[in-house]
Amino acid sequence: MIGELNQLRTDALEQLAHIWDDGALEAWRVKFLGRNGLLSTTLSKLGTLPKEERPAAGKLANEVKQALESAYEQKIGAIKQRALSESLEAAPLDVTLPGRPIQRGRLHPATANLRELYRIWGDMGFQVFRSREVESDEMNFQLLNIPPHHPARDNWSTFYVAHTNQRVLLRTHTSPGQIRAMRELGRNGTVPLRVVLPGMCYRYEQISARYEIQFNQLEGLAIGRNITFADLKGTLTEFARRMYGDRPVRFYGDHFPFTEPSAQMDVQCIICDGAGCGICKYTGYLEILGAGMVHPHVLRNGGYDPNEWSGFAFGMGTERIAMLKHRIEDIRYFWGNDLRFLEQF
Ligand code: PHE
Repeated sequence: MIGELNQLRTDALEQLAHIWDDGALEAWRVKFLGRNGLLSTTLSKLGTLPKEERPAAGKLANEVKQALESAYEQKIGAIKQRALSESLEAAPLDVTLPGRPIQRGRLHPATANLRELYRIWGDMGFQVFRSREVESDEMNFQLLNIPPHHPARDNWSTFYVAHTNQRVLLRTHTSPGQIRAMRELGRNGTVPLRVVLPGMCYRYEQISARYEIQFNQLEGLAIGRNITFADLKGTLTEFARRMYGDRPVRFYGDHFPFTEPSAQMDVQCIICDGAGCGICKYTGYLEILGAGMVHPHVLRNGGYDPNEWSGFAFGMGTERIAMLKHRIEDIRYFWGNDLRFLEQF
């Protein structure tokens, strides 16, 4: 029987060496390794051997079985490999075929724009302070000098998320972060502050080319002992110079309950250079931000004594700023997830 097994192994491997197609390989497997194949048939005779010969014969039978099985697996790989090289030779690689472009991710234009703003304000000594998007009515309005039922609330159409004792809402502007920054960084109104507060704001608006229900704002706040309106004008003028280059800016009187006095800053239209066009409604100027001197009540709510401290604040819609810079004519593109738009940046 030992001889028979050795012969079986030699024959099987010898025949396998000449096989190069799947059909012949399968026939080989059935012939040698199949349920009624030669190996099984030989094994079934194991019981008829004298007892002393069985262990050695059994051991060899296992070895033969393993040898054939692994040769079979290897042959599968070898046949695949040969088929691949044959097909490559038959149809040679066309190196003139244009490559497939690699898809690369990139920053969303709104994010890239925010980062540019952080850099400019960082260079001017303002640190980023992050505040929450879900706010209380108290933070978003009352502590900013806007009591319940005050008509100025009409300027900020609000999404409420829950009706509890104190109403909870999605912040309508980044200004509530002023109170949080003063309370968290101000050491009970004893140290000066220079912060910018970025983030998403929400308003219950009719969506159009100019208005979205969500948008980013960048708030700024500077608190010190001798800050005046001249500091506000100088700082914001320098910001506009860094952001838009050398073009004239102008300040207009405005009104916000949390600043007094309040102003709006315009920059010369970057589309028509002041000549007048559809974008600037033929005024030659574009509105960039709202600003003002922090109202004494707001300073007090932030922990500062308004007799000793003063400050200025400003707020800008940053998608609007990006729209002007890149001449994007519809704010809805920002959250539309249209790659044809996003890939341009
Ligand atoms: N919070 C104001 C708005 O959303 C902007 C602003 C901020 C005005 C700070 C003055 C000072 O319209």
